[in-house]
Amino acid sequence: MKLWAGRFQKETDTLVNDFNSSIGFDARLYRQDIAGSIAHAQMLGKQGIIEEHEAEKIVEGLKAILADIEDDKVEFSLDNEDIHMNIEALLTQRIGDAGKRLHTGRSRNDQVAVDTRLYVKQEIPTIIKAILNLEEVLVKKAKDNLDTVMPGYTHLQRAQPTTFAHYMMAYANMFKRDVTRLEDCLQRLDECPLGAGALATSTYPLDRFATAQALGFAKPTDNSMDSVSDRDYAIELLSDLSILMMHLSRFSEEIVLWCSWEFKYVDLDDAYSTGSSIMPQKKNPDVAELVRGKTGRVYGSLVTLLTMMKSLPLAYNKDMQEDKEALFDAVDTVELCLPVFAAMVDTLTVRPKNMAKAAAGGFINATDCADYLTKKGLPFREAYMIVGRLVNLCIKTGDTLDTLTLKDFRAISSLFDEDVYDALALKTCVNERKVYGGPSKDSVQTQIKLIEEFVDGHRV
Ligand code: ARG
Repeated sequence: MKLWAGRFQKETDTLVNDFNSSIGFDARLYRQDIAGSIAHAQMLGKQGIIEEHEAEKIVEGLKAILADIEDDKVEFSLDNEDIHMNIEALLTQRIGDAGKRLHTGRSRNDQVAVDTRLYVKQEIPTIIKAILNLEEVLVKKAKDNLDTVMPGYTHLQRAQPTTFAHYMMAYANMFKRDVTRLEDCLQRLDECPLGAGALATSTYPLDRFATAQALGFAKPTDNSMDSVSDRDYAIELLSDLSILMMHLSRFSEEIVLWCSWEFKYVDLDDAYSTGSSIMPQKKNPDVAELVRGKTGRVYGSLVTLLTMMKSLPLAYNKDMQEDKEALFDAVDTVELCLPVFAAMVDTLTVRPKNMAKAAAGGFINATDCADYLTKKGLPFREAYMIVGRLVNLCIKTGDTLDTLTLKDFRAISSLFDEDVYDALALKTCVNERKVYGGPSKDSVQTQIKLIEEFVDGHRV
């Protein structure tokens, strides 16, 4: 018989029973649900709402159920709808009448809200840890490649010289923001909805401060209607995870390009690539492609929740049960992607010669050539025009700027001297960019230090 069967005269249709049930996916909240129930029962006992000895019996019963679930000895039932009713039914089966007192002053509406908040609270540090591990890989790659000159691109056209280290630190900064966004989300969600009841608390003297503290929250939520109808914390997490996946996806895209024969800037380790069933020569970047592909799932979860919430009147509505699969799938996806992505980057081999060759071929020192003339007194716009003409000449003759003779240079501007070759050397072009945040060795070392300090300071 259903826990709520009292006012009904008919059995629930089996179709409705299956349709309504969430135990198939919310069973994974059993730990959070039991923790919430223990805190609630202890508070009920302390407040004299139920007898202390009954509270103790409930707590013991819940602990035994937890142990049995962990030992795989419990089978949940579809008839009990969700994890909350399953555990309550098991408790009553096991300890009798005392079990029936657990739900005093409580509703599944505040119960599910506390469970999902506890779940998000638990998962954020796991995700942060995985991002910090990736940051360490990026730092390592950067340290090994401070002098690895490569082209930087705009519009995917070779633009200006940079280094692989500078490139790695660009991504490190994105992931740093991802960590701080997640920490921010964690801080804002740190309020306990338990005690909000169905929507309007209770006539019992519930001590919401005590349950909040027992469950490790900073404080109880301030409005009971908001408490049971709020899923902002899940939406915030999914937004943060969507941005994180967008970063991983951009990085994946670069890796896919870089390991193509057209670029050959990197080689993926054999253990992190896959072959083709028909083309014997193939070595495919499946890990990067899958991370790029899975980004869509996480965006999908975010849109699911935003859409599910957008027209809901206060307070709880059953639509909200739909939050869980989307939330779990996004968290699982991110937790799956981060370690394998970090290992793929960690094990890839950089090809500095190919990067240097590409850097030498694309006129990426053209801005430096213009700057050379500007430093000799020419206004930048005029210098820019002169270098444009030089590039045009090179394209016709098959030269690069540094293979032109001094005569060629001087035919276009008498300001050119022998020292132009030094100014055009790619190493010079990179290392003269000493501006804060730039690609010079010193600047990148500062960037590495900042990321290292960040990682050390944010390990939990
Ligand atoms: N399984 C439900 C959910 O996930 C729990 C809350 C049910 N509350 C209710 N009044 N039907 O949202």
